[in-house]
Amino acid sequence: MSNVNLLNLIDKLSGGYSIERNEWRSLLTMGDEESRMMLMQRAAEVKELRFGRGVFVRGLIEISSYCRNNCNYCGLRCANREARRYRLSKEQILDCCREGASLGFNTFVLQGGEDPAQNDAWMADVVRSIKKEFPQKAVTLSVGERSTEAYRMFLDAGADRYLLRHETRDDEHYARLHPSAMSAAERRHCLFTLKRLGFQTGSGMMIGSPWQTIDNIIDDILFLEELNPQMIGTGPFIPASGTPMADFPPGSPDLTILVVSLLRLRFPDALIPATTALASLHPEGMEQAVLAGANVVMPNLSPFRVREMYSIYNNKKSYGSESAQNLIELENKLKAIGHYIDYGRGDYVEHSKTSEANV
Ligand code: 5AD
Ligand code: SF4
Repeated sequence: MSNVNLLNLIDKLSGGYSIERNEWRSLLTMGDEESRMMLMQRAAEVKELRFGRGVFVRGLIEISSYCRNNCNYCGLRCANREARRYRLSKEQILDCCREGASLGFNTFVLQGGEDPAQNDAWMADVVRSIKKEFPQKAVTLSVGERSTEAYRMFLDAGADRYLLRHETRDDEHYARLHPSAMSAAERRHCLFTLKRLGFQTGSGMMIGSPWQTIDNIIDDILFLEELNPQMIGTGPFIPASGTPMADFPPGSPDLTILVVSLLRLRFPDALIPATTALASLHPEGMEQAVLAGANVVMPNLSPFRVREMYSIYNNKKSYGSESAQNLIELENKLKAIGHYIDYGRGDYVEHSKTSEANV
């Protein structure tokens, strides 16, 4: 792409304007290194203006590897006989929070498969207990599709945020990635409900999932414009053994990083994680995502004995700088790229009103 064209598109995006589908396509398919670097640099500037060089940390607690769903890409799908299953008790989760609190975390993310044993009432009780002991800390849930009543219960119990990726906006593509019992429309319905109820809501998609096209990614971005979530998580697809997609190639780290930059330009206020999937696939994935505009990392705070069991894809990282117990290593990696850990709660704050006004 010519520099003039690229700068023009970057200006439109950072001015809070949307761009046309063909303009998204030309950005997403930019082949030349120079253009990609320019885009990443601009995204990094937008992030720095808005957030400085701090990166928020969230303690990730993987509460159950049981799942009633059967997503074709995920190692935890119920039909996967190779998957090792566990679920944490309330007391074990509270212990993780206590450890997280002593390490300096101010957000706990409770993530799990859709485990029928961890039902709505149980979940609400866990949230209530965490908030009772740690009233100042943020609690994020990532426990799948639930009823509106359940979401309301979680909110009443004190949950602050909810992560639920839309995975792909395209209904047909969604149907190829999921069993017929699941639907893209239901996923979107849950997301709009979460947002309406008042959760800081996170969505997102995998990059390079089987059969994904560039137009699918554009549809994903257009859907995110519609939802306008507070958090956006994107990581590369990584094959998971024991699933129907075990032999598909992984998504491209470069494309994932490009998408992170574009999301930062279009959603300047959003909390955008450098995902574990990217770090698992690429040795400098975390650093590259941060340099491309990501401003959150989610170190693993699950009990050590279960970490290997929460295997949504192959070779998922949970030690080293991906471990909550190793913030020093994370701090060093961030320092090497001119960043530091921001231990604040990192709630969403809308600054760029223009991004809404100009859609
Ligand atoms: N590769 C990458 N990401 C995956 N997820 C599930 N399976 C995989 C995989 N094989 C992602 C989904 C889900 C999130 C918790 O993990 O996007 O929403
Ligand atoms: Fe279950 Fe989530 Fe995996 Fe789907 S992606 S099988 S809902 S844990």
